[in-house]
Amino acid sequence: MTDSNRIIIFDTTLRDGEQSPGASMNLEEKVLVAQALDSLGVDVIEAGFAIASKGDFEAVQEVARTVKNATVCSLARAVKADIEAAGEAIKPAKRKRIHTFISTSPLHMKYKLKMEPEQVVEKIKESISYARKYTDDVEWSCEDGSRTEHDFLCHTIETAIKAGATTINLPDTVGYALPGSFGELVKIIMNRVPNMDKAVLSVHCHNDLGLAVANSLAAVQAGARQIECTINGIGERAGNAALEEVVMAIKTRNDQLPFTTGIVTERLTRTSRLVSQITGFAVQKNKAIVGANAFAHESGIHQHGMLAHSETYEIMTPASVGVTETTLVMGKHSGSHAFGEKLKELGFDLGENALAEAFAQFKALADRKKEIYDEDIIALVNPGVHQRDEKLQFVSLQVACGSKGPQTAALVMKVDGKEHSVTSEGNGPVDATFKAIQSLYPHQAKLELYQVHAVTKGTDAQAEVTVRLVDEGQVYNGHSADPDTLVASARAYINALNVQHRQKGRKRGGDGQLRREAAAI
Ligand code: KIV
Ligand code: ZN
Repeated sequence: MTDSNRIIIFDTTLRDGEQSPGASMNLEEKVLVAQALDSLGVDVIEAGFAIASKGDFEAVQEVARTVKNATVCSLARAVKADIEAAGEAIKPAKRKRIHTFISTSPLHMKYKLKMEPEQVVEKIKESISYARKYTDDVEWSCEDGSRTEHDFLCHTIETAIKAGATTINLPDTVGYALPGSFGELVKIIMNRVPNMDKAVLSVHCHNDLGLAVANSLAAVQAGARQIECTINGIGERAGNAALEEVVMAIKTRNDQLPFTTGIVTERLTRTSRLVSQITGFAVQKNKAIVGANAFAHESGIHQHGMLAHSETYEIMTPASVGVTETTLVMGKHSGSHAFGEKLKELGFDLGENALAEAFAQFKALADRKKEIYDEDIIALVNPGVHQRDEKLQFVSLQVACGSKGPQTAALVMKVDGKEHSVTSEGNGPVDATFKAIQSLYPHQAKLELYQVHAVTKGTDAQAEVTVRLVDEGQVYNGHSADPDTLVASARAYINALNVQHRQKGRKRGGDGQLRREAAAI
């Protein structure tokens, strides 16, 4: 295997993924995802679109400060102000890239840009030369490339490379391509663009026809060496190529796809779970690689085959994507040492304080729940459940509900360390609970998402709740898990309010505080 077969994995979960309606992440969450992507071994992290808003700029900058190995990239249109914002935001990164783009298809040039092809070519030259003032690593995308006339496409790519682009990205912006013809298009570019050997050819496929992964793989077979993708395939409309699927296809079918990536595949499941938890986008059960059923064998014939030899029905092992066989069974008699070992087995390396806190929560859970699954423990240590030193702290909740209303919630909550209680009525128990929180801590933030998901099977399963609040255009996500859905709901709501409080405080505290907090995550 030579280096020419190494595929660069460019992750755009924080940019195209975040453009999924409802997938907004706040700065802290973006930093957490970026750290997870860095540990996963992605080569390039597209951290955002710096010009889009102050929040986007700060998030790209914070990711640039935090990431240790990957190249950090910001998107920019072919506009000076965009490139300046991108260049400034990525400045703190060890390795930095600007990704600039302009549409090249007849449809986009005429109706979206209202430009003649020659004007677009001029913009390409200007934008790339300007981006090169900030970094030598400049990527250029021909938006709607798969619907661009071939001669013009090759001409724009040649121009971009001459102007200094080191990566050329061919997007299938509207998810229109089919694997055969997309592969052919890659070959046309490889053969016809005279200076193509001076840049890496990349692809960026959308999933409108469910073909994003197939198109990406056809492209690398035809000569592309970078794939742009997202965790769980999130992204505009039907999403982007799913990173975990692309990577595992290459790993599992290396006979047909003789390529390598730098991805630590054993971290795929936990990264998928983190992104799902933060965005509130549940992963469908039958999703390839990271779905809950991806390695479940239900039918008798399959189970029999599996017992005889796992390869009868398994083309890759669960362990290879980070689904570990349970070697330590946890219960209420388990001690802190075993709990620490279990966390290591699940891939979490917590500091002393966080470990002690998680162990206390585990003990409380084990008192209430007979069987503790790995998923229960993961839900405990994932972000959003910590209460220590927070402005608002959940103390207790008593709910009356059922067909004979009114439904009421009696909530006790600490605000700045002082205990307050209230009983509120609502249109159902969740509404009553949220009204109780509102009455103890009046706020303007509006509820945008309330989502419940059972962590495991069984009627005593923990409910994992995501609450998304929006205030002055900013998004604040809260998460919690508890066998009692209403307790989890109250805690998740309170968590979102604490996130809001922390972020507002941090804005007041300035940059130094921001960096200290990011370093502590
Ligand atoms: O889908 C697309 O064309 C994009 C570009 C900005 C690369 O996301
Ligand atoms: Zn896209």
